[in-house]
Amino acid sequence: MNREKIIVIDFGGQYNQLVARRVRECSVYCEIYSYKTDIEQIKAMNPKGIILTGGPNSCYEENAASCSKELFELGIPVLGLCYGAQLIMHVLGGRVCKAPVREYGKIQVTVDTSSKLFRDVSEKTICWMSHNDYIERIAPGFEIIARTSDCPVAAAQWEERKLYAIQFHPEVLHTKEGSKMLHNFVYKVCGCEGAWRMDTFVETSIRAIREKVGSGKVLCALSGGVDSSVAAVMLSKAVGDQLTCVFVDHGLLRKNEGDEVEEVFGPNGPYDLNFIRVNAQERFYEKLKGVEEPEKKRKIIGEEFIRVFEEEAKKIGAVEFLVQGTIYPDVVESGLGGESAVIKSHHNVGGLPDYVDFKEVIEPLRDLFKDEVRKAGLELGIPEKLVFRQPFPGPGLGIRIVGEVTAQKVAMVQDADAIYREEIARAGLDKEIGQYFAALTNMRSVGVMGDERTYDYAVALRAVNTVDFMTAETAEIPFAVLTKVMNRIINEVKGINRVFYDLTSKPPGTIEFE
Ligand code: XMP
Repeated sequence: MNREKIIVIDFGGQYNQLVARRVRECSVYCEIYSYKTDIEQIKAMNPKGIILTGGPNSCYEENAASCSKELFELGIPVLGLCYGAQLIMHVLGGRVCKAPVREYGKIQVTVDTSSKLFRDVSEKTICWMSHNDYIERIAPGFEIIARTSDCPVAAAQWEERKLYAIQFHPEVLHTKEGSKMLHNFVYKVCGCEGAWRMDTFVETSIRAIREKVGSGKVLCALSGGVDSSVAAVMLSKAVGDQLTCVFVDHGLLRKNEGDEVEEVFGPNGPYDLNFIRVNAQERFYEKLKGVEEPEKKRKIIGEEFIRVFEEEAKKIGAVEFLVQGTIYPDVVESGLGGESAVIKSHHNVGGLPDYVDFKEVIEPLRDLFKDEVRKAGLELGIPEKLVFRQPFPGPGLGIRIVGEVTAQKVAMVQDADAIYREEIARAGLDKEIGQYFAALTNMRSVGVMGDERTYDYAVALRAVNTVDFMTAETAEIPFAVLTKVMNRIINEVKGINRVFYDLTSKPPGTIEFE
């Protein structure tokens, strides 16, 4: 599609996706490409601007990730961030070397507010620095537009050539006015119009899907999660009942979740589509009988999911299109987009069945970040409750029960989790905490309830804050809230007599509790 765009050239920095997201927050579409991308390909994309990201190398080292000088001669504005800034100087004849003082953390930077890049930015502003190397001498043609006490070149520009270099990271929120700087780059330097809006995206996507699908049949595996729900609604708006959604209830969903999904997508819901709910709970419990090892449980759940889905697909017969809820980070992380090697450790339940009979895959959310998927969901009128649903792993409660999974344990963890979520919402913390849930430990211990001795399970409460789900910090829930949750769980959930709060961050823990 020929839309106004900025491209991010990725040199392996940890914030590559963040850069693209920040640009999109300015209503400008942005894509990530590896630094190895051919210059001809870049030209053909005709971007309004190019941003070079940070990266782990030293640009003066042999074999360091680099770019051709031609990139700076295209007449397209370029903004280099951290490594990207050093690279601009290195390639154009400046000097980059190891800094006498390593800068790391929030640092006060003095900026030249007459530069387009720093328009409306405070003269002294806090920025996030993280670098060992520094620009000792700028390249000919450039002038310095920001400095710190340890860093003589915190930013530089060559205004006529529209080349900008920033040593710090405007994309991270610790840089107080970073969004303003990126906003200035895309509007004041690149002259973008800002046409990237979710309502337009939704509208044009629906039209494009309709054209592509024609009168064909479409099949979608619906999990009730945000991505597959938004994809399904988009398809339903585009092709109505040519779409069939198969929702497999594996009996490992959160309390009442199966019914909630059915309420929205089933025959009494607002959407025009064919909805098939497969109640396969018993099948899954049967397969999981006696299995304690977490990886084995994951495999069984994944495989069984495929079997169930395939059986349904066979009943439906050949379809032209299969819908997948792939989103942009999946594209980048699978190596098709940027450079940073993020090892994808999880897959949604089961992946794709091999022999479902379809001709083509439709991925309507392939260009979107998660927060954009949510915005698209709201545009499409999907209930907020569903749109802001927390991440929930494909194998579901199967990996929130330590040890063997049984129907009885599923019920216990569902009830405890529902109480926990209810109280977190009541305390007004539900939008604040990244992910939180109850898990059932495999530990039983002695307690006393009334005059009775009990020998019951312990439940673990988990709550974390995280940016990327690769690392996570434990959320600080007020003790009064935790105590209330504990009291309610012990009183209301039969079979549980102890409640723990998991304090472990990731690493060394994982977010899930399996
Ligand atoms: P961990 O437990 O590895 O989880 O720290 C990181 C994030 O991934 C989610 N998760 C999964 N998501 N399928 C998924 O779709 C899975 O198999 C899976 N396992 C973990 C987890 O909820 C957290 O958000």
